[in-house]
Amino acid sequence: LFGCGQTPPEPAPMPAAPELSKAVAVIYPTEGNEVRGTVTFTQGMGGVEVSANLMGLPPGEHGFHIHQYGDASAMDGTSAGGHFNPMSKAHSGPESEERHVGDLGNITADEAGAAMYKKQDAHLSLNGPNTILGRGVIIHAQADDLTSQPTGAAGPRLGIGVIGVAKE
Ligand code: CU
Ligand code: ZN
Repeated sequence: LFGCGQTPPEPAPMPAAPELSKAVAVIYPTEGNEVRGTVTFTQGMGGVEVSANLMGLPPGEHGFHIHQYGDASAMDGTSAGGHFNPMSKAHSGPESEERHVGDLGNITADEAGAAMYKKQDAHLSLNGPNTILGRGVIIHAQADDLTSQPTGAAGPRLGIGVIGVAKE
């Protein structure tokens, strides 16, 4: 079949897994709380841009994390588990190299209870083995002190969302 000067056909390349470029978590309040809003995650070359728009928070700083499980079944949000930490590192803040992948730091609510957050985060990815897809987003009652292990002492969970695939 393959004579002189002929080469056998190349095997067809494996189709590349489609890269996810946008995800969203809709935040709902846990029992007795009021926070609502959205957190979007947009994959870029140098990481993921996190953009949050929340309302219904007590004024001040609130710990803001990606937690291990996208499980919002518990009324107090504890079903989301601890901080998403696939590299088994210590808790810290978003600017630290030694941190949980899920350590987004704090989000600050104004006097009206509204909070915005926009930051590029090189530790996050929507793709690959440590994708944040399907994990939980938690807004806490208190500020994350960025040092207490393993939670930042941010207190109870006021709001919870699950990171899902978004329309681009
Ligand atoms: Cu948290
Ligand atoms: Zn942490």
